[in-house]
Amino acid sequence: MHDAVAPQSPLETPLAKAAAVPLPGADELADRFPLEANPRPASPERRAELLRGLHFGTVFTDHMAHARWSRSEGWQQHGIVPFAELSLSPAAAVLHYGQEVFEGIKAYRHADGSIWTFRPRYNAARLNASAARLAMPALPEEDFVASLVDLVRTEAAWVPSGEGESLYLRPFAFASEAFLGVQSANVIDYYVIASPTGAYFPNGLKPISIWVSQDYHRAGRGGTGFAKTGGNYAASLLPQQQAAERGCDQVCFLDDVTQSNLEELGGMNLMVVYADGSVSTPKLTGTILEGSTRSAILRLLADEGRAVREETIPLVTLLEGINSGAVTEVFACGTAAVVVPLGRLAGEGFDVEITGSEASRHIYDQLTSIQYGKAEDPYGWMYRLA
Ligand code: COI
Repeated sequence: MHDAVAPQSPLETPLAKAAAVPLPGADELADRFPLEANPRPASPERRAELLRGLHFGTVFTDHMAHARWSRSEGWQQHGIVPFAELSLSPAAAVLHYGQEVFEGIKAYRHADGSIWTFRPRYNAARLNASAARLAMPALPEEDFVASLVDLVRTEAAWVPSGEGESLYLRPFAFASEAFLGVQSANVIDYYVIASPTGAYFPNGLKPISIWVSQDYHRAGRGGTGFAKTGGNYAASLLPQQQAAERGCDQVCFLDDVTQSNLEELGGMNLMVVYADGSVSTPKLTGTILEGSTRSAILRLLADEGRAVREETIPLVTLLEGINSGAVTEVFACGTAAVVVPLGRLAGEGFDVEITGSEASRHIYDQLTSIQYGKAEDPYGWMYRLA
C-alpha cells in the first residue's frame, strides 16, 4: 500500500525549501569542472547561422559537462569536455533497465549581456529526489550548479538574445556500468548538454488542444511519477500519438486509481482559472512531477491576491465548469514551454472549447519578465551564471 503524499503548500515542499537555500556566487563555484576545449568548435559564422530561427532541442553547443560516479570512489573526473557521441557498452544498464534521471533548466541573456538562470537549487534538489527513487547516487547540489556555471561560461556565445530565446540546459545521469543483472549500477555518468532554444510550441502563446487519455496512465501510486526519469516520458509516447491521431497537440493523463482526476500533460503541469479569479492545480500525490514553473506560478498568483488551491480536480467537474462558465481558462506550464493556454479539451464522449487566455498571458509576462531581467526579482529566484 502506498498512501498519497500529503498536500503541502508550494512554498513548503522540500524542493521549494531546498531552492531557497542561498548559493555561493558563480565565481566561487567556477572551475570545479575544468575545461578540455573542443579542438573543432563551430565557427562564429556557423554558430550565427545555427542561432537563426531556433526551435526546441535541435541545436547543440560545442561542449558538455561531465562527471562519473563509481560506488568505490564517488564522483570524480569532473570536466567540461567536447560535445561528442558517447561511447557506451551495449550492455550498459541504462539501455536495458532505464536507470536514468534528467532535468531541464534555462540560461537567459539579459539586456546588459549578463547570463542568468532560474532557481538552480530547485533543479539540483529535484535531480537528487529523482535519483533517490531510481536508486542512484546524489550529486552535491553545489556541484550541479557548478556544472551549469562552467558549461555556460564556456558556451556564453551560444546564449541567444532574441525574444523568448534561451540556452536550454539538459542535465542527466544514467547507469553506464556494463552489467545485465537487475540491480543499481556501480557506475553512473552525469552530463549536461546545452541547446540554444526558441519557443517549445512553434505558435507561442496560441492555445493548444488536449486529448484526455482514458486508456493509458503515465504513472501509478508508488511508482516513479514524481521523478524526472525517461521511463515516464516513454510511457507518454503512445498516448501522445493517439492524441495526435485525434487532431490534438498534447495528451493529458488521469490518475490510475479512480481514472477520473486530472494529473498532468506528461511534460507540463496544469492550472485551472475560475471566474472568481481563483486558480487550482492538481495536488502533488506522488504521481505528478513537481514543476519548478508550477511552483513559481503558484507563488506569483498567490502574491497577486488570488486564492490558489492544490486539490483533486475531477475531469467531470472541470468539464461542468467549462460548460457553465465557472472555469474561464486552463493553461499548462513547464520549463521548456513556460506557459501555454488550452483552447480545446477532448476525450471519449466530450469535446469542449475554452476561450480565455488572459491569465496565461499575464502570468507568462510576469514570469518571463523576471527571468529576462525586465522586472524586479523579489524572490531571489535568479542566479547569475556569467
Ligand atoms: C521541461 O519543461 O524542461 C521538460 O523537461 C519537459 C519536456 C521537454 C521533457
